[in-house]
Amino acid sequence: MRIQERANELRAQGVDIIGLGTGEPDFDTPEHIKDAAHAAARAGLTKYPPTAGTGELKCAIREKLARENGFDYAADEIIVSSGAKQVLFNAFMATLNPGDEVIVPAPYWGVYKDIVRICGGVPKVLLSGADSGFRVSAAAIEEAITPRTRWLVLNAPSNPSGAAYGAADLGGIVGVLDRHRHVWLLSDDIYEHIVYEPGAYAHALDLNPDLGGRTLLVNGVSKAYAMTGWRIGYGAGPAALIGAMVAVQGHITSGASSIGQAAAVAALNGPQDHIPEWRDAFRRRRDRVVSLLNQAEGIECLSPEGAFYVFPSCAGTNGKKTPDGKVLSSDVDFCQYLLDAVGVATVPGSDFGVGDHFRISYAYAQASLHEACTRIMRACGALS
Ligand SMILES: Cc1ncc(COP(=O)(O)O)c(C=O)c1O
Repeated sequence: MRIQERANELRAQGVDIIGLGTGEPDFDTPEHIKDAAHAAARAGLTKYPPTAGTGELKCAIREKLARENGFDYAADEIIVSSGAKQVLFNAFMATLNPGDEVIVPAPYWGVYKDIVRICGGVPKVLLSGADSGFRVSAAAIEEAITPRTRWLVLNAPSNPSGAAYGAADLGGIVGVLDRHRHVWLLSDDIYEHIVYEPGAYAHALDLNPDLGGRTLLVNGVSKAYAMTGWRIGYGAGPAALIGAMVAVQGHITSGASSIGQAAAVAALNGPQDHIPEWRDAFRRRRDRVVSLLNQAEGIECLSPEGAFYVFPSCAGTNGKKTPDGKVLSSDVDFCQYLLDAVGVATVPGSDFGVGDHFRISYAYAQASLHEACTRIMRACGALS
C-alpha cells in the first residue's frame, strides 16, 4: 500500500510511473459479456437475487465444473459471492472457532492470512523458496498439522509466485490429507486457465475424488474473463459447508450483484476462445520479462508455470549503495528505490510472506513491460 500510495503521489506530480503492482488482466471484458449485463438490466433483473446465487449462474457453474474439470456438483453445493475473496471470507467465518489453525503456504496472497485472523483463526505459514520452485513439501505440511488444524490452503498457479503443483508433488500432499481426515482443503483455482505447461498443473480432486467431501473449490470470473470489477466469484463444496457460508453471506451482502451474475452466466456459457489467446499473450510476456530481469545485476528470476506474476529475488542488491548514498537492506528498500529512481512500482515480497523478493504482474502491454524491465536493469546497474 505504501508503494502504491507513493506511486500515486509521484504520478500526481507528473512523474512517469509504470505500475506493475496490480493483479488484474489488462484485457477488456469481452463484448458479449457486457451485452448480457445490459440485457439483464433492461429485462428488470434489478431486484435482490437469491442469497446463494441465481439459478442460472449456479447452473452455468455446475456445467463449467463438469465440462472443464470433470467435477460433479449439485445446486446446493454451489455459492456465488461478490468475488472469490468473499467466498474465502464466508468459508473461514463459517468454519473457524477461535484458535483454529489454517495452513497457508508462503509466498501467499496476503488476503488468506488476514481473513483467517479476522475470523479468529491462526494462520500457520509454511515458507518455501526458489530452491523448491516456491512449492511446499508434503512433509512440511504434515509436520505443521495439529489437532487444531482446520484447513490447508492451496493456490496454484500461485499469486505471487506463479508456481503450480504437478501430479508427483501434489500426490504427496493428497496422501497427507488422506492420513489427517480432520483437515479440509481450500483449493483456490482462480488462475487455473493460465497454465503454460499443462503437465506442471494437477488438481487434488483429480488425484483423489474422495477428497471432495472435505474440499472447497474457490474460483471466479475475475481473471479468466477480465472481470475483476464485476465482483463475481464462486465456491463449490459439501452442501453443509455451503449452507453455512450462505448463512454468513446473507448477513454481509445478501448475495452478489444480479447484473454481475447475468454477465457471469454469459462468460461461463459463451465462447471461450479468448482464453488460449490471452494465455499465449501472457506466455510471451512472461518469457520476455524473465529474460530481461535475469540480465539485471543482483536479480534472479524463475520462469513460473502459470498465473501472470513473476517473483524474482532481489537478495543480490542487499548491502549495495544507491547513487544517493542509501544502502539497501531489504526488499522494501529495493522496491522503494525502483519507484523513486526509475518510476517502476512493484510489490515487496515481504507482503507475501517471503522477503528479499518482489512481485511483478506482467498483465500489461509488452511495450510497458519492456520499458519497465529496462528501467529495472538500469536501476540495478547504478548500484555500487
Ligand atoms: C489467488 C487469488 N485468489 C482470489 C483472488 C480474488 O479474486 P476476486 O476478484 O474474485 O475476488 C485473487 C485476486 O487477486 C487472487 O490472486
